[in-house]
Amino acid sequence: GGDDGYRLWLKYEPVKDLSRKAHYLKYSSFISDAVHSEITGSAAKELQMALNGLVGKSVPVVAKVAGRRGGIVFSLGPDSTLMPLQQEGYQIREVSGNIVIRSATEGGILYGAFALLRHMQTGQSLSGVNVKSTPKVRYRMLNHWDNPDGTIERGYAGSSLWKWYELPERIDPRYEDYARANASLGINGTVLNNVNASARFMSREYIVKVAAIAAVMRRYGIRTYLSVYFAAPKTLGGLTTSDPLDPKVRAWWSEKVAEIYREIPDFGGFLVKANSEGEPGPQDYGRTHADGANMLAEAFKPYDGIVIWRAFVYKADPNADRFKAAYEEFVPLDGKFDPRVIVQVKNGPIDFQPREPFSPLFGNMPGTPLGMEFQITQEYLGFAAHAVYEAPIFKECLDADTYVKGQGSTVAKVIDGSLHGYTRTLMAGVANTGSDRNWTGHPLAQANWYAFGRLSWDHQLTSEQIANEWIQLTLTRQPKPGAHIQALMLRSREIYVDYNTPLGLSRPWMGVHFAPEPWQSRGARPDWTATYYHRADSAGLGFDRTANGSGALAQYRPQVQQQWNDPENTALPYLLWFHHVGWDKKLGTGRTLWDELCHRLYTGADSVVWMQQQWDLARTGLDNRIYADVAGRLKVQRREAIWWRDAWVLYLQTFSKQPVPKGLEPPR
Ligand code: GCU
Repeated sequence: GGDDGYRLWLKYEPVKDLSRKAHYLKYSSFISDAVHSEITGSAAKELQMALNGLVGKSVPVVAKVAGRRGGIVFSLGPDSTLMPLQQEGYQIREVSGNIVIRSATEGGILYGAFALLRHMQTGQSLSGVNVKSTPKVRYRMLNHWDNPDGTIERGYAGSSLWKWYELPERIDPRYEDYARANASLGINGTVLNNVNASARFMSREYIVKVAAIAAVMRRYGIRTYLSVYFAAPKTLGGLTTSDPLDPKVRAWWSEKVAEIYREIPDFGGFLVKANSEGEPGPQDYGRTHADGANMLAEAFKPYDGIVIWRAFVYKADPNADRFKAAYEEFVPLDGKFDPRVIVQVKNGPIDFQPREPFSPLFGNMPGTPLGMEFQITQEYLGFAAHAVYEAPIFKECLDADTYVKGQGSTVAKVIDGSLHGYTRTLMAGVANTGSDRNWTGHPLAQANWYAFGRLSWDHQLTSEQIANEWIQLTLTRQPKPGAHIQALMLRSREIYVDYNTPLGLSRPWMGVHFAPEPWQSRGARPDWTATYYHRADSAGLGFDRTANGSGALAQYRPQVQQQWNDPENTALPYLLWFHHVGWDKKLGTGRTLWDELCHRLYTGADSVVWMQQQWDLARTGLDNRIYADVAGRLKVQRREAIWWRDAWVLYLQTFSKQPVPKGLEPPR
């Protein structure tokens, strides 16, 4: 027996404190849903299920309040003067003995219902409750890198949730649970398939399958999107070209989009990876990203859909710095995109490394809405074997100051549209979900899905708040065990960085992106090798991106350049991102580069033992099955942290020619 993790943060376990339970029962006589729509129906159903769990009562759903007291009341107040964003907001208030959830939209009522349940699951009082919340970003979505054959690119929690071969006839009940989990966080969009897209998703056969999933999502206010293969007009449509300026190609896409909307009236739009890592795109025909995106945007003109165009591009020039590529390709196109287009940018300039500086694109395209792409799945963070709580990674980027309009021009303000007045704003997370019973493989990885969702709604929440909330909802309501788990989570990212890529080392290696192979120097392209990134040589280590090196730093504002220009003043976590530093260089810590590296690699690996201790200290508050699952994974993490440490030390030693400092145990 034990908790299999399937219910995520929607467990609704009985409230043990009797007076608290009595208090909640005071508001559990009825649920009034005068709106009676699909979406408010989902809200009512969720509340029924939850109250059944929390206070053990089956609560009837009624149409009208009719003078009743002691219930939960939905109140829809459409208001066309509100911006789309504000319309999704909600207010929860106690009014004459009832808990009223008010919003301008059905979706807002659903979000309010989930917020109310969060409030109760964290044991808060309902007397005089007054909670108000409005999302800061309009398109809050997951990107699934799922393939039609059921595999998931960079997925570590089993296979795809979408059972294409059973669709459209059979609807796996799990689709609804997936939608509930997302809606509970305010996520309102999902891209079902991989950005390395199969053209097959544009076929009639698949559109009908997608429509069956979209029908489930719709009940939870989630719109369905698809990734598209840019050359589909040729490979699927039988045309001789996919040139975006060719009228036949344009007509093909317009007809395709129309066909999709006939099946999926609330279809969200397309996500496009073009001219990136071998994918086709407009540049194949001498056209620009804007030409390609605008052609697709034109097809969406009759509908309320958008085109999300990814900025993840880099050239093959061996002398170039991949760091600079996206900026060079996209900044000249600023202002040339159709208003239906959002350009989606990864948080860092390279590729989801454990720590990257923020992408210099943020702030530098004032005339083009830029969306954020975070990676929830742990491609470079130890897959489902290592515990890494990602909220601090997301926050670090969102809080970074671009200085484009003076101090305080944070990335968050670019993303939420407040800096440049974008109305279409977006935050996307590359999903970590899969067919594993507990959805994410590592039980603690559920917190990363949760944190992404919560931050996409409100980027001002702190990592601490989110962790605390998630722990109470998911693992334990006992304060002491909770505190140990929170401590573990909050330090986990720094610990990972210490044993994996300390001081700004970087290493997107080949193959599956898991094993340490810093020596890997042969790949199909120079920038598909590890040595390209860390630049170890007999003199030192790190990538010089100052004016003496690649000059990438010049893509940032002077105030940012100042932070990172001088190796003497560069904060240590970013040092090797911007400088080639001599092995014997004394750092701010008083140690030489070599000694500091060794120190961090060893401390990081040893800190996994501390994580194990925290987990053990939390044991009394935990379900046995979840305790054992994480305890086992922490053992793997400990073993692999040592593996990372030793791989780096032994490899870098061939350049530094120095011993491991005294006091640190030598590699075995
Ligand atoms: C990374 C990842 C790929 C993915 C790509 C992308 O390079 O390893 O699997 O396709 O990013 O974001 O497009």
